[in-house]
Amino acid sequence: MTERPQDSENTNSSRRSFLGGGVAGLVAGLQTSASLAASPPEDKVTTHVSAVAESKVKVVNAVNSRLFSFCGGLTGDWMVTSIRAICGETLPDAERLHIHQGLGNAHEALSSDTKWFLRGVTSNDRYVTRPEKELLVARQAPLGRATATHAALIPIRKSAAWWAMTQDERRALFEEESHHIKIGMDYLPAIARRLHHCRDLESKEPFDFLTFFDFAPGDEPLFDRMLEKLRSTREWSFVDREVDIRLKKVTPT
Ligand code: HEM
Repeated sequence: MTERPQDSENTNSSRRSFLGGGVAGLVAGLQTSASLAASPPEDKVTTHVSAVAESKVKVVNAVNSRLFSFCGGLTGDWMVTSIRAICGETLPDAERLHIHQGLGNAHEALSSDTKWFLRGVTSNDRYVTRPEKELLVARQAPLGRATATHAALIPIRKSAAWWAMTQDERRALFEEESHHIKIGMDYLPAIARRLHHCRDLESKEPFDFLTFFDFAPGDEPLFDRMLEKLRSTREWSFVDREVDIRLKKVTPT
């Protein structure tokens, strides 16, 4: 797939996100306003900041269980076996991936070892028809099966031309022309998946989607065959950034 020029706004936002993205912004923002308070001793500032930050985080967390954060660094349940840019700018190397649900763990996620921090929310379906939905529900498996010790995190950004289309134009391209669902359906239940949307977050994110899949090691070639098919569709000609991150479950010793 050919590399296309990045738009400068997105490039800047991806740099920001490597440095912590929206959550870092939230924590930094709280620190700034607290430091404007009438010069209390330094230890009091810290206590005040963390109390305010914690209460804010709890409030957000209470309504945000659909939020997933993917933290590349030195810790986490998944070992990163490869990071490969398919199109556009890659992501920095990381040894492990930690997946957080909700915002409660944001402080932990943003340690000094964090190399990248990506966030997205699960959401309602945008394209599936009722018959497709019923087939998917009948065939798909949940993430986290004991046999699914390999996984892939594939963050994707689509071009401005994709987003300029209307919903019905996108659906026609996505399914009637590119057969995304029809192709994917053939790989169920071997491959389990979860789609996260990034454009619905309050902060600007470097990708539009975070796609996550898990499968048994023996099904990885199957997964690769599916990727080959999807990446050759017209839908994928609208993908202007894609990074393929492969993972292996860390077995407790
Ligand atoms: C395991 C087989 C797969 C199945 C059954 C599947 C199914 C689907 C379905 C049903 C949707 C539409 C959800 C909606 O209505 O909003 C969707 C969207 C999407 N899928 Fe897949 N998919 C599969 C594999 C993949 C793979 C391997 C990738 C990435 C490499 C991928 C990337 C995406 C993206 C980015 C979207 C959002 C498209 C958009 O809203 O523009 N899918 N998929």
